[in-house]
Amino acid sequence: MAVKKLGVVGSGIMGSGIAEAAAVAGHEVVVRSRSQASADALAAGLERSLGRQVEKGRLSAEERDAAVARLSTTTELDALGDCDLVIESVVEDLEVKKHLFIELDRVCGPQAVLATNTSTLPVVELAMQTGRPERVCGIHFFNPAPAMSLVEVVRPLTASEETVRAAKSFAEACGKTVVEVKDQAGFVVNALLFPYLNNAVRLLENGVASKEDIDTAMKGGCGFPMGPFALLDLVGLDTSLAIMDALYEEYRDPNYAAVPLLRRMVAAERLGRKSGRGFYDYH
Ligand SMILES: NC(=O)c1ccc[n+]([C@@H]2O[C@H](COP(=O)([O-])OP(=O)(O)OC[C@H]3O[C@@H](n4cnc5c(N)ncnc54)[C@H](O)[C@@H]3O)[C@@H](O)[C@H]2O)c1
Repeated sequence: MAVKKLGVVGSGIMGSGIAEAAAVAGHEVVVRSRSQASADALAAGLERSLGRQVEKGRLSAEERDAAVARLSTTTELDALGDCDLVIESVVEDLEVKKHLFIELDRVCGPQAVLATNTSTLPVVELAMQTGRPERVCGIHFFNPAPAMSLVEVVRPLTASEETVRAAKSFAEACGKTVVEVKDQAGFVVNALLFPYLNNAVRLLENGVASKEDIDTAMKGGCGFPMGPFALLDLVGLDTSLAIMDALYEEYRDPNYAAVPLLRRMVAAERLGRKSGRGFYDYH
């Protein structure tokens, strides 16, 4: 199954990044946003982002214009009815995603593959909301989606071989390197990454070092491109907390319990870059 038209649900950090990566790769993309204002913001953000690529010489002006022309936005889920593949990238909340899969199953053609960009939630539970569990899988991009080279294709127990193959081909057509992973919380990358990020917050909470020094230490000592607090702010602290909670829910391992400071930061609406303030200030 070749993906000609991609539907993306959600216009946050990841929805917009996936839409950009797919449009640049030559797919027709329609993004469903809940409000016209966020749909307009997504379209404007895409033009800005592609403009930067042109300035850096990574994209020609013609390629930018063609990518922009391939992207459209909508506030209606029904507009995704003729998509070959739909990737949902809404808030990391199982109940919200379950409800969305019921709706996607209703509006999408019977041959369409429905995928989730979830970081940790059980893909099989989303598949079982639909009348086509064999056509549901995870396609997990990384942040920022246009730049990061990896995609984890998540195979729930219910997925057919054809669905997994279609998901891999799509990700490869977007220029990504694909690894196939089992439907288990955190898959590979987040199962390894988030305990580390959580432990960085624990070090800060325990007063072992300042956040600046912890970031400096992990960049200089491990060669990481950014430190844990800069990365948490990039990911979003609400999403990070949801990921920790999902890991804990799955494994009940005390090492996966979110550090209280992370929960308090979310309660204070310090969500990272997207809210203008997280561990660092972006105003
Ligand atoms: N942030 C990351 O680094 C990252 C990386 C890979 C995957 N993900 C996954 O991508 C998904 C989206 O994360 P994000 O970082 O783009 O978050 P975000 O906060 O930037 O965007 C969330 C989107 O969900 C929408 N939304 C919120 N509540 C909703 C509801 N009740 N019904 C429908 N839509 C709703 C918002 O309007 C927004 O468009 C999550 O599943 C997350 O785990 C995130």
